[in-house]
Amino acid sequence: MPRHVDDSDPGRPAPRHVDGSDPGRPTPRHVAIIMDGNGRWAKARGLPRTAGHKAGAEAARKVLRAAGEAGVECLTLYAFSSENWRRPEAEINDLMGLLRFYIGSELNALHREGIRLRILGDHKAFQPDVARMVDEAVARTAGNDRMTLAIALNYGARTELVMAARDLARRAAAGEIIPDEIDEAAIDASLDTAGLPALDLLIRTSGEYRLSNFLLWQAAYAELLFVDTLWPDFDGDALRAALGDFAARERRYGGL
Ligand code: IPE
Ligand code: IPE
Ligand code: MG
Repeated sequence: MPRHVDDSDPGRPAPRHVDGSDPGRPTPRHVAIIMDGNGRWAKARGLPRTAGHKAGAEAARKVLRAAGEAGVECLTLYAFSSENWRRPEAEINDLMGLLRFYIGSELNALHREGIRLRILGDHKAFQPDVARMVDEAVARTAGNDRMTLAIALNYGARTELVMAARDLARRAAAGEIIPDEIDEAAIDASLDTAGLPALDLLIRTSGEYRLSNFLLWQAAYAELLFVDTLWPDFDGDALRAALGDFAARERRYGGL
């Protein structure tokens, strides 16, 4: 017998994905990007890695605008992984500085454009002033509903799943939920992405073919797109090309 989470009629038409994605939709509701290749972009120009990160922040600005114009409801950007702490302290400090600058300079524009900021991961581990700025930006934009920008900061998908398991276990121990009733929707609702549309398209730049601990659960039925472009060279046209690629895909979710 298939290991189905629900026990409804097996002869019914193929269900929408647990988190509500719609296989026939030509524009993805939720696009996530592993913004990779800043260092190589800088190296190719004889510049310090920081220059690559700065150019990468510019690319993020352009891509956010293009995504909004195309009708993407949620754009998720992988900005700092829980493994990126392995980098030299100077680079980590540069990245923090850039984040501080980006929030400082972009927050008004984001808010004006009706963009809600969400954070995936544990940004509390960042420098206190940066963590506070992030919290304030999230609070200030919480009521916006034109589009969501989710930024993954100190994010790792395995840790996200560990936290979800702990949360569910705690609630079960407290008698709030019954272990046998924990289903995919319950796990979905315990992740950092709770409430966001199902992930439709996951893009990685810079010619690397791996997920690097990003959205492992959410990517189960996302369309994957790996492009050689280094992140600072990715722009509105590159995003539109990716959306065109997505529109031509046939999503089957295991059905026919
Ligand atoms: C991605 O670019 C940005 C972050 C991980 C913060 P990289 O810094 O990983 O650039 P490459 O992969 O070394 O070129
Ligand atoms: C993934 O890129 C993380 C971000 C883009 C923030 P990395 O450059 O850290 O990934 P690996 O080390 O090549 O797997
Ligand atoms: Mg990299």
